[in-house]
Amino acid sequence: MNKRHFLSSTAAAVLALSAGATLAQDNTFKIGLILPMTGQQATTGRQIEAAARLYMAQNGDTVAGKKIQLIVKDDTSIPDMTKRLAQELVVNDKVNVLAGMGITPSALATAQIATQSKTPLVVMAAATSSITEASPYVVRTSFTLPQASVALADWAPKNGIKKVVTLVSDYGPGLDAEKFFTSRLQFNGGQVVEQLRVPLRSPDFAPFLQKVRDIKPDALFVFVPSGAGAAVMKQFLERGMDKAGIRLIGTGDVTDDDQLNDMGDGALGVVTSHHYSAAHPSAMNKKFVEAFQKANKNLRPNFMAVGGYDGMRVIYEALRVTKGNGGGDALLGAMKGQIFESPRGPIFIDAQTRDVVQNIYLRKVEKKDGQLYNVEFDVVKDVKDPGKTK
Ligand code: DHB
Repeated sequence: MNKRHFLSSTAAAVLALSAGATLAQDNTFKIGLILPMTGQQATTGRQIEAAARLYMAQNGDTVAGKKIQLIVKDDTSIPDMTKRLAQELVVNDKVNVLAGMGITPSALATAQIATQSKTPLVVMAAATSSITEASPYVVRTSFTLPQASVALADWAPKNGIKKVVTLVSDYGPGLDAEKFFTSRLQFNGGQVVEQLRVPLRSPDFAPFLQKVRDIKPDALFVFVPSGAGAAVMKQFLERGMDKAGIRLIGTGDVTDDDQLNDMGDGALGVVTSHHYSAAHPSAMNKKFVEAFQKANKNLRPNFMAVGGYDGMRVIYEALRVTKGNGGGDALLGAMKGQIFESPRGPIFIDAQTRDVVQNIYLRKVEKKDGQLYNVEFDVVKDVKDPGKTK
Protein backbone atom coordinates (compact mmCIF):
# COMPACT_ATOMS: atom_id res chain seq x y z
CA MET A 1 0.00 0.00 0.00
CA ASN A 2 1.55 3.33 -0.94
CA LYS A 3 1.69 6.17 1.52
CA ARG A 4 -1.00 8.20 -0.10
CA HIS A 5 -3.41 5.30 -0.17
CA PHE A 6 -2.60 4.42 3.43
CA LEU A 7 -3.24 7.99 4.54
CA SER A 8 -6.53 8.23 2.74
CA SER A 9 -7.82 4.91 4.02
CA THR A 10 -6.78 5.81 7.57
CA ALA A 11 -8.59 9.09 7.21
CA ALA A 12 -11.66 7.25 5.95
CA ALA A 13 -11.60 4.96 9.00
CA VAL A 14 -11.31 7.90 11.36
CA LEU A 15 -14.08 9.66 9.52
CA ALA A 16 -16.29 6.64 9.99
CA LEU A 17 -15.46 6.55 13.71
CA SER A 18 -16.22 10.19 14.22
CA ALA A 19 -19.43 9.98 12.22
CA GLY A 20 -22.37 10.95 14.33
CA ALA A 21 -20.15 12.21 17.14
CA THR A 22 -21.71 15.12 18.96
CA LEU A 23 -20.02 18.40 19.68
CA ALA A 24 -16.39 18.42 20.69
CA GLN A 25 -15.97 17.74 24.39
CA ASP A 26 -14.62 21.16 25.22
CA ASN A 27 -16.65 24.28 25.15
CA THR A 28 -15.70 25.44 21.70
CA PHE A 29 -17.76 25.27 18.54
CA LYS A 30 -15.53 25.10 15.51
CA ILE A 31 -16.29 26.36 12.04
CA GLY A 32 -13.85 25.21 9.34
CA LEU A 33 -14.00 27.96 6.72
CA ILE A 34 -12.25 26.87 3.52
CA LEU A 35 -11.75 29.64 0.98
CA PRO A 36 -9.48 30.67 -1.89
CA MET A 37 -7.34 33.31 -0.12
CA THR A 38 -4.69 33.38 -2.87
CA GLY A 39 -4.77 32.84 -6.63
CA GLN A 40 -7.37 33.74 -9.24
CA GLN A 41 -10.32 33.53 -6.84
CA ALA A 42 -8.67 35.40 -3.94
CA THR A 43 -11.22 38.23 -3.86
CA THR A 44 -13.90 35.66 -3.02
CA GLY A 45 -11.93 34.50 0.00
CA ARG A 46 -11.13 38.02 1.13
CA GLN A 47 -14.78 39.09 0.92
CA ILE A 48 -16.18 36.04 2.70
CA GLU A 49 -13.62 36.02 5.49
CA ALA A 50 -14.19 39.72 6.12
CA ALA A 51 -17.95 39.18 6.23
CA ALA A 52 -17.69 36.21 8.60
CA ARG A 53 -15.49 38.22 10.96
CA LEU A 54 -17.90 41.15 10.78
CA TYR A 55 -20.79 38.86 11.68
CA MET A 56 -18.86 37.61 14.72
CA ALA A 57 -17.85 41.13 15.77
CA GLN A 58 -21.50 42.22 15.62
CA ASN A 59 -23.04 39.12 17.22
CA GLY A 60 -20.42 38.05 19.72
CA ASP A 61 -18.34 34.88 19.74
CA THR A 62 -20.37 32.92 22.28
CA VAL A 63 -23.62 31.15 21.39
CA ALA A 64 -25.54 28.77 23.67
CA GLY A 65 -22.58 28.70 26.02
CA LYS A 66 -20.15 27.69 23.27
CA LYS A 67 -17.20 29.78 22.21
CA ILE A 68 -17.14 30.05 18.42
CA GLN A 69 -13.79 29.38 16.81
CA LEU A 70 -13.37 30.24 13.14
CA ILE A 71 -10.60 28.25 11.45
CA VAL A 72 -9.79 29.74 8.04
CA LYS A 73 -7.90 27.64 5.46
CA ASP A 74 -6.69 28.66 2.01
CA ASP A 75 -7.45 26.08 -0.68
CA THR A 76 -6.11 28.31 -3.50
CA SER A 77 -9.26 27.13 -5.33
CA ILE A 78 -7.70 23.73 -6.14
CA PRO A 79 -10.44 21.14 -5.45
CA ASP A 80 -8.06 18.38 -4.28
CA MET A 81 -6.73 20.81 -1.72
CA THR A 82 -10.24 21.78 -0.59
CA LYS A 83 -11.01 18.13 -0.02
CA ARG A 84 -7.78 17.44 1.88
CA LEU A 85 -8.29 20.49 4.09
CA ALA A 86 -11.88 19.46 4.81
CA GLN A 87 -10.71 15.99 5.79
CA GLU A 88 -8.08 17.44 8.15
CA LEU A 89 -10.56 19.87 9.67
CA VAL A 90 -13.02 17.07 10.38
CA VAL A 91 -10.52 14.47 11.59
CA ASN A 92 -7.90 16.57 13.41
CA ASP A 93 -9.71 19.74 14.41
CA LYS A 94 -13.08 18.06 14.87
CA VAL A 95 -14.94 21.00 13.38
CA ASN A 96 -18.68 21.10 13.94
CA VAL A 97 -19.43 22.77 10.61
CA LEU A 98 -17.61 23.09 7.30
CA ALA A 99 -18.16 26.28 5.31
CA GLY A 100 -16.88 28.46 2.47
CA MET A 101 -16.40 26.80 -0.96
CA GLY A 102 -15.23 29.50 -3.39
CA ILE A 103 -15.88 27.60 -6.59
CA THR A 104 -18.08 24.72 -7.69
CA PRO A 105 -15.31 22.10 -8.11
CA SER A 106 -14.25 22.75 -4.50
CA ALA A 107 -17.79 22.25 -3.20
CA LEU A 108 -18.28 19.07 -5.22
CA ALA A 109 -14.95 17.66 -4.03
CA THR A 110 -15.92 18.25 -0.40
CA ALA A 111 -19.51 17.01 -0.47
CA GLN A 112 -18.52 13.41 0.21
CA ILE A 113 -16.54 14.39 3.33
CA ALA A 114 -19.63 16.16 4.66
CA THR A 115 -21.77 13.09 4.03
CA GLN A 116 -19.33 10.58 5.53
CA SER A 117 -18.70 12.60 8.66
CA LYS A 118 -22.28 13.94 8.96
CA THR A 119 -20.96 17.48 9.09
CA PRO A 120 -23.10 20.32 7.71
CA LEU A 121 -21.37 22.04 4.78
CA VAL A 122 -22.52 25.64 4.38
CA VAL A 123 -21.79 26.69 0.78
CA MET A 124 -21.31 30.46 0.82
CA ALA A 125 -20.08 31.10 -2.75
CA ALA A 126 -20.27 28.24 -5.25
CA ALA A 127 -23.42 28.45 -7.36
CA THR A 128 -23.92 25.48 -9.70
CA SER A 129 -27.44 24.21 -9.19
CA SER A 130 -26.48 20.57 -8.55
CA ILE A 131 -24.21 21.22 -5.54
CA THR A 132 -27.02 20.81 -3.02
CA GLU A 133 -27.75 17.39 -4.52
CA ALA A 134 -24.15 16.20 -4.04
CA SER A 135 -24.68 15.70 -0.29
CA PRO A 136 -27.68 15.83 2.05
CA TYR A 137 -25.42 17.86 4.39
CA VAL A 138 -25.04 20.80 2.01
CA VAL A 139 -26.89 24.02 2.86
CA ARG A 140 -26.41 26.97 0.51
CA THR A 141 -26.49 30.71 1.28
CA SER A 142 -25.11 32.03 -2.03
CA PHE A 143 -27.33 31.64 -5.11
CA THR A 144 -27.64 29.51 -8.23
CA LEU A 145 -26.95 30.51 -11.81
CA PRO A 146 -30.33 29.26 -13.09
CA GLN A 147 -31.95 31.40 -10.36
CA ALA A 148 -30.05 34.51 -11.48
CA SER A 149 -30.24 33.96 -15.27
CA VAL A 150 -33.93 33.44 -15.87
CA ALA A 151 -35.06 36.94 -14.85
CA LEU A 152 -32.68 38.49 -17.38
CA ALA A 153 -34.02 36.27 -20.17
CA ASP A 154 -37.49 37.56 -19.31
CA TRP A 155 -36.35 41.17 -19.32
CA ALA A 156 -34.26 41.12 -22.52
CA PRO A 157 -36.86 40.54 -25.28
CA LYS A 158 -39.13 43.19 -23.75
CA ASN A 159 -36.26 45.62 -24.11
CA GLY A 160 -35.28 45.22 -27.73
CA ILE A 161 -32.86 42.33 -27.20
CA LYS A 162 -33.87 39.37 -29.38
CA LYS A 163 -30.64 38.04 -30.86
CA VAL A 164 -28.01 37.12 -28.27
CA VAL A 165 -24.59 35.46 -28.10
CA THR A 166 -23.71 33.82 -24.78
CA LEU A 167 -20.16 33.76 -23.39
CA VAL A 168 -19.59 31.71 -20.24
CA SER A 169 -16.78 30.19 -18.22
CA ASP A 170 -16.58 26.57 -19.25
CA TYR A 171 -17.57 24.79 -16.03
CA GLY A 172 -20.62 24.13 -13.83
CA PRO A 173 -22.01 27.61 -13.18
CA GLY A 174 -21.27 28.80 -16.73
CA LEU A 175 -23.02 25.81 -18.25
CA ASP A 176 -26.01 26.37 -15.94
CA ALA A 177 -26.18 30.05 -16.94
CA GLU A 178 -25.90 29.21 -20.64
CA LYS A 179 -28.58 26.55 -20.49
CA PHE A 180 -31.17 28.44 -18.45
CA PHE A 181 -30.65 31.81 -20.14
CA THR A 182 -30.86 30.22 -23.60
CA SER A 183 -33.95 28.13 -23.05
CA ARG A 184 -35.85 30.92 -21.33
CA LEU A 185 -34.94 33.46 -24.02
CA GLN A 186 -36.10 31.05 -26.71
CA PHE A 187 -39.31 30.44 -24.79
CA ASN A 188 -39.82 34.22 -24.84
CA GLY A 189 -39.36 34.42 -28.60
CA GLY A 190 -35.70 35.47 -28.61
CA GLN A 191 -32.76 33.56 -30.03
CA VAL A 192 -29.27 32.58 -28.89
CA VAL A 193 -27.29 32.46 -32.13
CA GLU A 194 -23.96 31.30 -30.72
CA GLN A 195 -22.79 29.82 -27.41
CA LEU A 196 -19.15 30.54 -26.57
CA ARG A 197 -17.23 28.99 -23.67
CA VAL A 198 -13.94 30.25 -22.23
CA PRO A 199 -11.64 28.30 -19.91
CA LEU A 200 -11.93 29.01 -16.19
CA ARG A 201 -8.17 29.32 -15.67
CA SER A 202 -6.43 32.35 -17.20
CA PRO A 203 -9.05 33.06 -19.84
CA ASP A 204 -8.25 35.21 -22.88
CA PHE A 205 -11.50 36.84 -23.94
CA ALA A 206 -10.09 38.60 -27.03
CA PRO A 207 -10.65 35.92 -29.72
CA PHE A 208 -14.17 35.26 -28.42
CA LEU A 209 -15.07 38.94 -28.42
CA GLN A 210 -13.81 39.29 -31.98
CA LYS A 211 -16.19 36.55 -32.98
CA VAL A 212 -19.07 38.30 -31.20
CA ARG A 213 -18.26 41.51 -33.06
CA ASP A 214 -18.49 39.70 -36.37
CA ILE A 215 -21.86 38.14 -35.48
CA LYS A 216 -23.18 41.50 -34.23
CA PRO A 217 -26.01 40.32 -31.95
CA ASP A 218 -28.28 42.73 -30.04
CA ALA A 219 -26.49 41.71 -26.86
CA LEU A 220 -23.72 39.60 -25.42
CA PHE A 221 -24.78 37.64 -22.32
CA VAL A 222 -21.82 36.93 -20.01
CA PHE A 223 -21.19 34.72 -17.03
CA VAL A 224 -17.71 34.76 -15.54
CA PRO A 225 -16.89 34.07 -11.88
CA SER A 226 -16.34 36.82 -9.36
CA GLY A 227 -13.06 38.58 -10.06
CA ALA A 228 -13.06 38.12 -13.84
CA GLY A 229 -15.67 40.76 -14.71
CA ALA A 230 -13.28 43.69 -14.99
CA ALA A 231 -11.22 41.92 -17.66
CA VAL A 232 -14.33 41.19 -19.72
CA MET A 233 -15.52 44.78 -19.42
CA LYS A 234 -12.12 46.18 -20.40
CA GLN A 235 -11.79 44.05 -23.50
CA PHE A 236 -15.44 44.60 -24.47
CA LEU A 237 -14.86 48.35 -24.43
CA GLU A 238 -11.39 48.21 -26.04
CA ARG A 239 -12.90 46.42 -29.02
CA GLY A 240 -15.59 49.08 -29.32
CA MET A 241 -18.34 46.50 -29.01
CA ASP A 242 -20.64 49.04 -27.33
CA LYS A 243 -20.08 51.51 -30.16
CA ALA A 244 -20.90 48.73 -32.62
CA GLY A 245 -24.34 48.57 -31.00
CA ILE A 246 -23.84 45.38 -28.98
CA ARG A 247 -25.14 45.57 -25.43
CA LEU A 248 -23.44 43.78 -22.57
CA ILE A 249 -25.79 41.90 -20.23
CA GLY A 250 -25.18 39.12 -17.73
CA THR A 251 -25.60 37.79 -14.26
CA GLY A 252 -24.32 40.22 -11.63
CA ASP A 253 -21.02 38.36 -11.36
CA VAL A 254 -19.75 40.48 -14.27
CA THR A 255 -20.46 43.81 -12.54
CA ASP A 256 -19.19 42.50 -9.20
CA ASP A 257 -19.25 45.20 -6.51
CA ASP A 258 -15.70 44.23 -5.59
CA GLN A 259 -14.48 45.59 -8.95
CA LEU A 260 -17.29 47.69 -10.41
CA ASN A 261 -16.15 51.08 -9.21
CA ASP A 262 -12.81 50.67 -11.00
CA MET A 263 -14.36 49.63 -14.32
CA GLY A 264 -14.86 53.21 -15.50
CA ASP A 265 -17.79 54.96 -17.12
CA GLY A 266 -17.86 52.43 -19.97
CA ALA A 267 -19.74 50.19 -17.55
CA LEU A 268 -22.63 52.68 -17.27
CA GLY A 269 -25.91 51.23 -18.48
CA VAL A 270 -24.92 47.56 -18.24
CA VAL A 271 -27.98 45.57 -17.14
CA THR A 272 -27.56 42.46 -15.01
CA SER A 273 -29.72 40.23 -12.82
CA HIS A 274 -28.57 39.09 -9.40
CA HIS A 275 -29.46 38.61 -5.75
CA TYR A 276 -27.27 41.30 -4.20
CA SER A 277 -26.18 44.86 -4.84
CA ALA A 278 -24.22 47.02 -2.40
CA ALA A 279 -26.76 49.69 -3.39
CA HIS A 280 -29.76 47.61 -2.24
CA PRO A 281 -31.93 50.26 -0.59
CA SER A 282 -32.79 48.69 2.76
CA ALA A 283 -31.91 49.98 6.22
CA MET A 284 -30.25 46.67 7.01
CA ASN A 285 -28.07 46.79 3.90
CA LYS A 286 -27.00 50.38 4.53
CA LYS A 287 -25.83 49.35 7.99
CA PHE A 288 -24.10 46.26 6.61
CA VAL A 289 -22.22 48.16 3.88
CA GLU A 290 -21.14 50.88 6.30
CA ALA A 291 -19.89 48.44 8.92
CA PHE A 292 -18.13 46.27 6.32
CA GLN A 293 -16.36 49.25 4.78
CA LYS A 294 -15.38 50.60 8.18
CA ALA A 295 -13.81 47.29 9.17
CA ASN A 296 -12.07 46.73 5.82
CA LYS A 297 -10.37 49.94 4.67
CA ASN A 298 -13.37 51.01 2.62
CA LEU A 299 -13.64 47.74 0.66
CA ARG A 300 -17.15 47.49 -0.77
CA PRO A 301 -18.93 44.21 0.07
CA ASN A 302 -20.01 42.13 -2.91
CA PHE A 303 -22.38 39.18 -3.29
CA MET A 304 -19.75 36.82 -1.91
CA ALA A 305 -19.59 38.82 1.32
CA VAL A 306 -23.35 38.51 1.72
CA GLY A 307 -23.20 34.74 1.18
CA GLY A 308 -20.61 34.55 3.97
CA TYR A 309 -22.47 36.85 6.34
CA ASP A 310 -25.74 34.97 5.93
CA GLY A 311 -23.95 31.63 6.18
CA MET A 312 -22.70 32.67 9.61
CA ARG A 313 -26.24 33.65 10.57
CA VAL A 314 -27.48 30.21 9.56
CA ILE A 315 -24.77 28.54 11.68
CA TYR A 316 -25.28 30.78 14.74
CA GLU A 317 -29.03 30.28 14.66
CA ALA A 318 -28.68 26.50 14.33
CA LEU A 319 -26.35 26.44 17.34
CA ARG A 320 -28.75 28.62 19.35
CA VAL A 321 -31.78 26.48 18.51
CA THR A 322 -29.98 23.21 19.35
CA LYS A 323 -28.84 24.79 22.64
CA GLY A 324 -25.21 23.97 22.00
CA ASN A 325 -25.59 20.22 22.37
CA GLY A 326 -26.63 18.94 18.97
CA GLY A 327 -24.47 16.92 16.57
CA GLY A 328 -24.26 17.35 12.80
CA ASP A 329 -27.76 16.05 12.11
CA ALA A 330 -29.38 18.29 14.70
CA LEU A 331 -27.50 21.31 13.40
CA LEU A 332 -28.48 20.47 9.84
CA GLY A 333 -32.11 20.14 10.89
CA ALA A 334 -31.98 23.57 12.51
CA MET A 335 -30.45 25.11 9.38
CA LYS A 336 -33.28 23.90 7.17
CA GLY A 337 -36.24 26.22 6.91
CA GLN A 338 -34.60 29.34 8.36
CA ILE A 339 -36.28 32.54 7.20
CA PHE A 340 -34.64 35.87 7.86
CA GLU A 341 -33.80 39.31 6.54
CA SER A 342 -30.42 39.46 4.80
CA PRO A 343 -28.66 42.59 3.53
CA ARG A 344 -29.86 41.36 0.10
CA GLY A 345 -33.54 41.24 1.17
CA PRO A 346 -35.65 38.45 2.67
CA ILE A 347 -34.27 34.92 2.26
CA PHE A 348 -35.36 31.40 3.06
CA ILE A 349 -33.46 28.10 3.28
CA ASP A 350 -35.84 25.65 1.59
CA ALA A 351 -36.12 22.67 3.93
CA GLN A 352 -36.57 20.22 1.04
CA THR A 353 -33.70 21.34 -1.19
CA ARG A 354 -31.49 23.06 1.43
CA ASP A 355 -31.02 25.78 -1.16
CA VAL A 356 -31.61 29.49 -0.80
CA VAL A 357 -34.87 31.05 -2.01
CA GLN A 358 -34.50 34.77 -2.61
CA ASN A 359 -35.41 37.85 -4.65
CA ILE A 360 -33.65 38.34 -7.96
CA TYR A 361 -33.20 41.97 -8.93
CA LEU A 362 -32.73 43.60 -12.32
CA ARG A 363 -30.08 46.27 -12.01
CA LYS A 364 -28.43 48.87 -14.19
CA VAL A 365 -24.98 50.36 -13.63
CA GLU A 366 -25.41 54.01 -12.66
CA LYS A 367 -23.36 56.69 -11.00
CA LYS A 368 -24.37 57.68 -7.48
CA ASP A 369 -22.30 60.19 -5.49
CA GLY A 370 -19.48 59.79 -8.02
CA GLN A 371 -19.35 55.99 -7.68
CA LEU A 372 -20.56 53.20 -9.92
CA TYR A 373 -23.30 50.96 -8.50
CA ASN A 374 -25.69 48.26 -9.66
CA VAL A 375 -28.93 50.17 -9.11
CA GLU A 376 -31.96 47.89 -8.76
CA PHE A 377 -34.95 48.79 -10.95
CA ASP A 378 -37.12 45.68 -10.80
CA VAL A 379 -37.50 42.55 -8.69
CA VAL A 380 -38.75 38.98 -9.07
CA LYS A 381 -39.72 37.86 -5.59
CA ASP A 382 -38.89 34.60 -3.80
CA VAL A 383 -37.19 32.81 -6.67
CA LYS A 384 -36.48 29.11 -6.10
CA ASP A 385 -33.64 27.49 -8.01
CA PRO A 386 -35.21 26.46 -11.34
CA GLY A 387 -32.34 24.03 -11.89
CA LYS A 388 -33.35 21.35 -9.40
CA THR A 389 -33.96 17.98 -10.98
CA LYS A 390 -36.04 16.81 -8.06
C1 DHB B 1 -18.96 30.26 -8.91
C2 DHB B 1 -17.90 31.08 -8.62
C3 DHB B 1 -18.04 32.45 -8.71
O1 DHB B 1 -17.02 33.28 -8.41
C4 DHB B 1 -19.27 33.01 -9.07
O2 DHB B 1 -19.37 34.36 -9.17
C5 DHB B 1 -20.34 32.18 -9.38
C6 DHB B 1 -20.18 30.81 -9.30
C7 DHB B 1 -18.79 28.79 -8.84
O3 DHB B 1 -17.69 28.29 -9.09
O4 DHB B 1 -19.77 28.11 -8.56
